[in-house]
Amino acid sequence: MKPKTRYVCSECGHHTPKWMGKCPGCDAWNTLEEETVTAAAPSRGPAPVATLRRLDELDVADLPRYRTRLPELDRVLGGGLVPGSLVLVAGDPGVGKSTLLLQAAAAYAEAGLRPLYVSAEESESQVVRRARRLGAAGAPIRVLCSTRLDAVAPAVESAECDVVIVDSIQTLHRSDSTSAPGSVTQVRDTALFFLELAKRTGVPVILVGHVTKEGHLAGPRTVEHMVDAVLYLEGDHLHQLRILRAAKNRFGATSETGVFTMTDGGLTEVGNPSELLLAERGAGQSGSAVIVTLEGTRPLLLEVQALVSGEGFPNPRRVTTGIDPKRLAVLLAVLERRAHVPVASSDVFVNVTGGLRAVEPAIDLGTLLAVASSHRDVPVPDDLVAIGEVGLGGEIRRVGQLARRLQEAAKLGFRRAAVPASAAGELRDLGLTLVPVGHVGEAVEKILAGVAPAIPVGRP
Ligand code: TYD
Ligand code: MG
Repeated sequence: MKPKTRYVCSECGHHTPKWMGKCPGCDAWNTLEEETVTAAAPSRGPAPVATLRRLDELDVADLPRYRTRLPELDRVLGGGLVPGSLVLVAGDPGVGKSTLLLQAAAAYAEAGLRPLYVSAEESESQVVRRARRLGAAGAPIRVLCSTRLDAVAPAVESAECDVVIVDSIQTLHRSDSTSAPGSVTQVRDTALFFLELAKRTGVPVILVGHVTKEGHLAGPRTVEHMVDAVLYLEGDHLHQLRILRAAKNRFGATSETGVFTMTDGGLTEVGNPSELLLAERGAGQSGSAVIVTLEGTRPLLLEVQALVSGEGFPNPRRVTTGIDPKRLAVLLAVLERRAHVPVASSDVFVNVTGGLRAVEPAIDLGTLLAVASSHRDVPVPDDLVAIGEVGLGGEIRRVGQLARRLQEAAKLGFRRAAVPASAAGELRDLGLTLVPVGHVGEAVEKILAGVAPAIPVGRP
């Protein structure tokens, strides 16, 4: 058969027979790459017949799990690594994937398993130096440094190991292949090899994948459908906090998240991230409000800071870090029209501290209060959290898991919570005084006009 050419998107894996500037699958630009499809050679002799089995006859034991002394990692995996599973850990370059996985390798070794770390990005000396930095240089981890899949494959096959870590899927390639390392074809090929290995031998494989924006390397999304679990490691490299999130998990919930900080000695688990995030909050400062967002199932308290500057600008600036600028534009319009806080012609800067992103509607009320507080130069009380979605009519709408969010705020020493008036009646004693607000105008008046006096919280 004649080889055919098609074009595959390096972001979403969509393919088209013709090259296009924009991928019809995910609307990304310049991500289509040429791929040659060769039909499989006709097989000789009859094909083996697969065995049919009845579901109720199959005897399947509960899934065993490989656990580590990194409980945050185990939790995101759904309770530990399942033998025979293929896991993809994806993230921006430099976020800490290699660090996390070398620590995981050391943790598996400590748990009595035999990890194999395949590095196609770093030399042996780099891996050793990193291991020293992580205090794992003495761990019985086997290391294989090569970028050639055909050299790695037989070594992995013959090595007696319990866990294989491959860093990264984009740098391993077959030397006889015509497509470049990091292309869609190569990345899929490598993933397929490890998928087959994991399923056949029962040895779990963790693949590292770089998230790429430019499309020079195929994005991890091209193999997402093949793997059992996809974990994203996120965080801003200028800040220390890292969040590990399950985007897909055939063996557990996708709502689990693990929180770490990047230290000089690798990633350290953070039991109480909210405390860390609020530690630098200045007392009695205007333009700051505390919001409660959900990271998976876990409530996280974050500080939103706003600065409203100048007025009468024909083209005022709106600069945000950590929140959607379009959402801010909506909130500013609502604040101006519905609460008569004139911010339309002022520069407005909004920042979520800690380098995290807050995307939930539940942060609306807090964001709006931070802006109004900066505009009036009146602080939001230090002991108050604000939770609620803001509608275009200025109404404060209810949000999911309100009780859980309030409990977390109470645990951290907050005494008051501005909540949607419509939901306030359903809440029982949660250790907080509720400030029910039905409308943005009411919220601004109640919270910033001294009706709720600022009482400093006695945080240790
Ligand atoms: P790395 O794991 O190499 O990122 P990735 O594999 O995702 O590309 O980590 C990169 C950054 O982490 C690097 O800038 C240095 C920093 N780092 C620490 O701060 N502490 C450490 O102990 C280690 C090993 C790295
Ligand atoms: Mg790396």
